[in-house]
Amino acid sequence: MIVAIDGPAGVGKSTIAKNIADKCGLFYINSGNYYRAVAYKHLSFGEKPAIDSEIIKTARSCSFSINNGKLMLDGKLIEHLLHNKKIDMASSVFSSIVEVRLIINEALRDASKSLDIIMEGRDITTVVFPNADLKFYLGASPEIRAERRFRQNESDLSLIELKKEIIKRDYNDLNKKFGALKQANDAVFIDTSYLTIEEVCDKVVQKILGLKQSKVSGES
Ligand code: DC
Repeated sequence: MIVAIDGPAGVGKSTIAKNIADKCGLFYINSGNYYRAVAYKHLSFGEKPAIDSEIIKTARSCSFSINNGKLMLDGKLIEHLLHNKKIDMASSVFSSIVEVRLIINEALRDASKSLDIIMEGRDITTVVFPNADLKFYLGASPEIRAERRFRQNESDLSLIELKKEIIKRDYNDLNKKFGALKQANDAVFIDTSYLTIEEVCDKVVQKILGLKQSKVSGES
């Protein structure tokens, strides 16, 4: 089974997908971490220029694997190094390079082979797994997403700065030549603005259980 979830930055996709994976026994894959890992590796070269051909070379050189649910880059655990302002911005810019997207898409499909998965990102329902069994698009306004981030108290940015950053990342996501963020025609839209994490998870879990049930009845 493939469950695909898309939505903008800060809408809660990772928390929600992880939670649902635990509840439904699915393998969780965070596609954003792959783009972050490319940015992390490229930035770690220090003096390497941020030009497309060099970034593509870096993406090609990445070897990805998942160990105990954590993304490994070139055999090393790196997930804890992927969330800071520099990587937020670099991954947002690097992910607009078409070749980088093609490399990551292949790695994502490879990681999912013969598994029941839940994957979240920006183009999972439209490009990576257009034939996913279930598709969801999570939405919330930039104001609400900035407020949530601010309340998490994990950033030293002000509320206004957080909102500006979210708007900038939305712009990059929505305006990609390939793999732009958009709602697939057959995706279920969930407005998370006034829902708790639990309430969003419940909606998705209900659909997954419904699908599992219909598969069982179809078999018998
Ligand atoms: O979900 P995230 O914020 O961790 O993703 C990091 C960056 O990667 C973000 O700027 C958007 C980009 N991304 C993408 O272009 N396509 C995906 N499927 C997932 C993430």
